[in-house]
Amino acid sequence: MNLPLNSGTFIPIEGVHPRVHSKKLDKKLGFKISKIERKLSQIYRPYNLIEDPTNKKKHYKGGQAWIGLHPQALQTTYNDIFAAFDYLSKEDISRVVDIGAGYGRVGLVLSSFFPNAQFLGIELVAQRVHEGNRIFKKFNLTNCEIINQNVVEEVQKIPDADMYFIYDFSVKSDIDIVLETVLEKRSDIFYLVAHGDRVENLMSKKYRDYWHHCEKVYNTNLRIYKFNR
Ligand SMILES: C[S@@+](CC[C@H](N)C(=O)[O-])C[C@H]1O[C@@H](n2cnc3c(N)ncnc32)[C@H](O)[C@@H]1O
Repeated sequence: MNLPLNSGTFIPIEGVHPRVHSKKLDKKLGFKISKIERKLSQIYRPYNLIEDPTNKKKHYKGGQAWIGLHPQALQTTYNDIFAAFDYLSKEDISRVVDIGAGYGRVGLVLSSFFPNAQFLGIELVAQRVHEGNRIFKKFNLTNCEIINQNVVEEVQKIPDADMYFIYDFSVKSDIDIVLETVLEKRSDIFYLVAHGDRVENLMSKKYRDYWHHCEKVYNTNLRIYKFNR
């Protein structure tokens, strides 16, 4: 079934747990996330299993791929992403970059609010990149793309955007490299949507002087920081 992608597609449903709702939406959209994550787990060692010479599987090379994490924990729920764009719906959002984009949920919800905005997801794991781009193509979302890149190694290539989305994609030092680069080079208005203790800790301690305003989005796990320098 092809869902229509409009602002109604991602509206939260009262009484349905956000992760259950997200799982159902993934299925309706045609994602094969569980299957892909299962296959990744067969090839690579789970992220939380430390080195063990008797285990032949190696960790995913090049970064923290979170292999073995439940797919619904790996991703931000559609409810939370919906709430973030709802909060920003009156703003001028024409480009969004998701640092560690997973399967690109942020791009789908963005397109339902701002059909003309550009979405760039940067993701380490090629299988997630291909699946996200397959779904964008299925819905003819020519405004959305995920690229297969290590954001830490190519930090200078992160483009300017009106909104950056970061869900604790890696260890704190990796998140710090990205934040420092993005925050140092910008001098205009933009938003950072943060999800996770590591990014929030850095924003509240190390980068407190950089942002102008911060608000926790009602009923979500997200904080939106506004930069107005
Ligand atoms: C917690 S998931 C978040 C996915 C998505 N942003 C969301 O909120 O639904 C973090 C993702 O970042 C990716 N990642 C980790 N380190 C990365 C790096 N150095 N460069 C690019 N992506 C990375 C992981 O593979 C994983 O898919």
